[in-house]
Amino acid sequence: MSARVIAIDGPAAAGKGTLARRLAAHLGLPYLDTGLLYRAVARHLLDAGHLPSDPREAVAAAIRLQPTDLERTDLRTPEVDRAAAAVAAIPGVRAALLEFQRGFGSAHGAVLDGRDIGTIIFPEAAAKFFVTASVEARAERRWKELQQKGVATDLQSVLDDMKARDAADESRAAAPLVPANDAIILDTTHMDAGQAFAAALHALEKTVLFFRKEHPLRRQECERTRGTAPGPSSQGFTASCRHRGTG
Ligand code: CDP
Repeated sequence: MSARVIAIDGPAAAGKGTLARRLAAHLGLPYLDTGLLYRAVARHLLDAGHLPSDPREAVAAAIRLQPTDLERTDLRTPEVDRAAAAVAAIPGVRAALLEFQRGFGSAHGAVLDGRDIGTIIFPEAAAKFFVTASVEARAERRWKELQQKGVATDLQSVLDDMKARDAADESRAAAPLVPANDAIILDTTHMDAGQAFAAALHALEKTVLFFRKEHPLRRQECERTRGTAPGPSSQGFTASCRHRGTG
């Protein structure tokens, strides 16, 4: 059991990233957006004029990837969306990125979001969420994000791209997008970010022993990091180690 790893998987624009960031901050855990790894590989290939589906170049780019590559500001364009889905279907790329993801989560625990975290990267994660929403709701969210960033595009083409990417992610042979058997399914079609966060916290508190405030290991962790035991709180388990996150 990867005691302090939370896996969050799901299709594009379902709200995984927002949820993962909030959970990580709240629990004082590091956060990794694993989609950025595939996006950064895709960006390298596009910049070098290679096809994103070229396995040799894609694997070479994945092996050479540096953590600073994830900080590039040009990783979230529709062009990179499509190229990332293409490189992500290449088994050698996934193999090259696997150890980095495992290493990130294994050291101190972490929240990771992606497509295969609960199925392949951390099948022993303490908690797994599969965050989803109707494709129309997801397309509208992504379109609004792009509008805000000043990227000119229309809703229909965002919807078409999203359907194509869903199909590619779900049908590929290597690590297809599929909920883990033990994942908690969170449908955010009719939820805002705050409601999704509250629902996830509630599920964690109910189902995952370690994240309950009365759990002995959590109590020890609080004592170790703060010198005090978790006190009673009407706000649930996360209040017990509030100093470690943003609350
Ligand atoms: O932000 P959005 O959900 O649109 O995409 P992302 O999470 O940044 O992922 C971009 C692409 O990388 C996805 O369409 C997947 O094909 C791929 N991906 C993957 O295969 N496995 C992951 N763990 C994360 C992303």
